[in-house]
Amino acid sequence: APAELVAEFDAVVSADGRVEPRDWMPDAYRTTLIRQIAQHAHSEIIGMQPEANWITRAPSLRRKAILIAKVQDEAGHGLYLYGAAETLGVSREELLDKLHSGRQRYSSIFNYPTLTWADMGAIGWLVDGAAITNQVPLCRCSYGPYARAMVRVCKEESFHQRQGYELLHTLSHGTEEQHAMAQDAVNRWWWPSLMMFGPPDDESAHSAQSMAWRIKRHSNDELRQRFVDICVPQTEALGLTLPDPDLRWNEERGRWDFGAIDWEEFQQVLRGNGPCNEQRLNQRRTAHEEGAWVREAAAAYAAKQLTRTGQ
Ligand code: ACO
Repeated sequence: APAELVAEFDAVVSADGRVEPRDWMPDAYRTTLIRQIAQHAHSEIIGMQPEANWITRAPSLRRKAILIAKVQDEAGHGLYLYGAAETLGVSREELLDKLHSGRQRYSSIFNYPTLTWADMGAIGWLVDGAAITNQVPLCRCSYGPYARAMVRVCKEESFHQRQGYELLHTLSHGTEEQHAMAQDAVNRWWWPSLMMFGPPDDESAHSAQSMAWRIKRHSNDELRQRFVDICVPQTEALGLTLPDPDLRWNEERGRWDFGAIDWEEFQQVLRGNGPCNEQRLNQRRTAHEEGAWVREAAAAYAAKQLTRTGQ
């Protein structure tokens, strides 16, 4: 690429400006954005499955309405994100094809089962809480369309996080059985939530370059630590505990020390061997096939409109 274009790109990034779709950008910058945004979009739509599992079994009309709204928001987040990825020159079909054939990833967290109603609370509080911690800095990502999509996504995620917290608080302060159900859900979701932030910094293949490009603003370990520090006092307010005997306030660091994460489990989930990987991908492929008639009808209608208006 001509030196002026490279210099212009570097200047925009280092001045905390925004790179826009029509601007020149290095191929590797484009590729890494497509990888991350696609993975993020796929996570949103696969993430609808574990919660959809509970819509028909929500304990009240109010809880059902909230859950439907949340799952619908996730579909919307997927759409903004696929839209943001498309501005980089890939088509939605191509991205979905890569998801369905296992050539692009989605977040490890959605490969765990939702066993009880309390899981809806733990997902909202922990999974959406982790998502916000990771995504608020992405509102300042150097790529304009991704950064702007994140603003609305984060606002909606805050609602999701609060509804999860409120749900868990209600269960935790309910009957003994309800309290035990809330604690069990937190026990099962805590460690997988910490894995959402990605591998430790010294094993994170993309972090250094993504931080230099100001796509990522903080490292995986920094955000994970921030999340732990936010969660500990909230756990206490919930009347629950975290399943980590090594959790200790570190006076010197002014942060919470926590136990070792089982990275072997994380690697297994990434390799497709988590408890629900197969089920999630199969359901996604089936939904796509069953939705073919909707896409065909929309395309036929659009073509008819074109001939009617004579364009
Ligand atoms: N689940 C699945 N794959 C992961 C995860 C995870 N939790 N964390 C990291 N990986 C993958 C990376 O995609 C990368 O694999 P690849 O090279 O095949 O693409 C590999 O592990 C190494 O990781 P990093 O080098 O650390 O990758 P990266 O710099 O992209 O950081 C992170 C990972 C933090 C997840 C980043 O991509 C990100 O911030 N993404 C946007 C947020 C997002 O996708 N959230 C989805 C879940 S939240 C929700 O949907 C509610």
